[in-house]
Amino acid sequence: MTTEPLAGVKACVFDAYGTLFDYGSAAARCRDVLGDNLDRLVALWRDKQLQYTWLRAVQGHHADFWQVTGDALDFSLATIGLENAALRDRLMNLYLSLDVFPEVPDMLARLKKAGIQTAILSNGSPAMLKAVVDSARLSSLIDHVLSVEAVGVFKPHAKVYQLAVDRLAVAAANMSFQSSNAWDAYAASAFGMRVVWCNRYGQRREKLPGAPDREIRTLAELPAAIGIA
Ligand code: LAC
Repeated sequence: MTTEPLAGVKACVFDAYGTLFDYGSAAARCRDVLGDNLDRLVALWRDKQLQYTWLRAVQGHHADFWQVTGDALDFSLATIGLENAALRDRLMNLYLSLDVFPEVPDMLARLKKAGIQTAILSNGSPAMLKAVVDSARLSSLIDHVLSVEAVGVFKPHAKVYQLAVDRLAVAAANMSFQSSNAWDAYAASAFGMRVVWCNRYGQRREKLPGAPDREIRTLAELPAAIGIA
């Protein structure tokens, strides 16, 4: 990977969970109940949630991300021995108002000022995405909120990345996709998008098709990575 700015970017498309919004913040707000189980629950819930999306995509048995997120939470709470309906409801409700990563509002404002289109492309259902965007007060900074529900299959199916090309009417080669999920970054690259991998979690490079064009640690580095001063 070089460090030259990516040229010709007309639109920046963002993954939601883990990239713009901190999925760990739901459990963090339940530290009073979770105590020492907090980190284990965050990791297990996220891993199971993603596994269920991949498995459902391969099986052709789609259910929306709210269902999958709840199923993964039930599995995780049972695994840890914390089955508790009130805690489950609290965690699911908190998923609708996750913390936004601190650099995100200013970064989006800089992109908009430079005339770059902005979009979310996420597994999240339309209602989940609307709630989290509204709660973070980002709606004026994001031009398009695209949910996989429009194509009925989860990432990394190519139909999902094609949805962004179709809705934004920008060629994949002029679109920069940002994800903190390495597998998502690689898949968007294999599809043909330019990709800036926001490697917040210090993940290892994947052994998968695709090759992200740039790697950054937070989205504060994105404007420079696409040549905006
Ligand atoms: C999303 C998940 C993959 O927002 O983070 O699509």
